Amino acid sequence: MYQPAITGHGVFTPTQSITNDELVVAFNAYADLWNAEHAEAIAAGEVEAKPQSSSDFIFNASGIEQRYVLDKAGVLDPTRMFPALPARDDEQPSYMAEMAVDACGKALKMAGIDAGEIDLVICAASNHERAYPAIAIEIQQLLGCAGFGFDMNVACSSATFGIQAAADMVRAGSVRRALVVCPEICSGHLEWRDRDCHFIFGDVCTAVVLERSEDAKGARFDVISTRCATQFSNNIRNNNGFLRRTHDQMDDRREMQFMQNGRKVFKEVLPMVSTHIAEHMDDAGWAAGDLKRLWLHQANKTMNDFIGKKVLGRVPEEGEQPNILQDYANTSSAGSIIAFSKHSDDLTPGDKGVICSFGAGYSVGSVLIERA
Ligand code: COA
Repeated sequence: MYQPAITGHGVFTPTQSITNDELVVAFNAYADLWNAEHAEAIAAGEVEAKPQSSSDFIFNASGIEQRYVLDKAGVLDPTRMFPALPARDDEQPSYMAEMAVDACGKALKMAGIDAGEIDLVICAASNHERAYPAIAIEIQQLLGCAGFGFDMNVACSSATFGIQAAADMVRAGSVRRALVVCPEICSGHLEWRDRDCHFIFGDVCTAVVLERSEDAKGARFDVISTRCATQFSNNIRNNNGFLRRTHDQMDDRREMQFMQNGRKVFKEVLPMVSTHIAEHMDDAGWAAGDLKRLWLHQANKTMNDFIGKKVLGRVPEEGEQPNILQDYANTSSAGSIIAFSKHSDDLTPGDKGVICSFGAGYSVGSVLIERA
């Protein structure tokens, strides 16, 4: 058995961003157009008028201030309200693979290894651009990695589940070096025309390199223990799937985009996650006082404040539980890894931390790491 370690990480951030104010202006213009178009039905009481969105609501309910997207113009066009990403022919790299190459390049550089030394690529994300061939295999080919690759989908928990899979393989010796990459084009499955959720998501890609601790060329985080759990729930759901045509449902349907019962998610996921982290740490012999940092899934500031307080047994101090959601919004599986990537360099040997993601499924994954 080998000790797995995270030796590199990287983030691809799109160049375009949308502030809450910009988003709300576009949404309200869309709502006005829709209401004008349906004025008669609204007046007859047959349909409800679309209410306006508000920047204050968004910030107060979520902590989000802006989000990065691959295409801003399409999202902010009130007659469109979703990104325009032109179809690419089969000879061009897919959007997800292109983002992945950037993030993986940064992670490989940090680890000080060549792509050819990687023998496993896991593309772990909440949606994949096509059914097959796997995006991971395309990334493997574009980077020039050896070995094999496969796609994984555990929604917002994809990164930690991917890290567990890779760490277990490094530990067992079936692979020597792995990339776990999370390209998230959340703008593609978000319903920008629904004010209850239009502010939630953004686009990004993260990558981490895992290898044997003994192979590390620079600073590393040993993966001490991983734990994953799932429990079925319909409260975060997307019905888009390969049987859509067979259901005669090719029209523009609400349930083919992200849907959630936010309040229920909030109530049910919080205790699940707090208990999960506490039990995982307890079984590893870690006390709350041993923790230097918590890198949590980035969906909602209040949610993270609650989990941080529950896990530490006190209000987290500045920097102990860093949030990036104010800048990136919810980036599904990538959120906890962005937080880790941007807020881990200052840790010193012996410092312990937890990466934890949670979301649809429900799913929760925790990774206990120690700076070495
Ligand atoms: N602008 C203005 N008002 C809005 C609005 C908007 N954009 N969106 C909703 N509202 C209204 C609602 O209609 C509701 O009005 P009502 O009280 O008259 O019915 C009110 O604001 C409160 O809405 P609610 O949905 O209960 O807000 P919330 O405080 O629960 O916050 C979330 C919404 C989504 C931010 C929050 O529930 C959340 O973060 N949940 C967990 C999400 C999560 O982790 N999901 C995982 C995804 S991977």
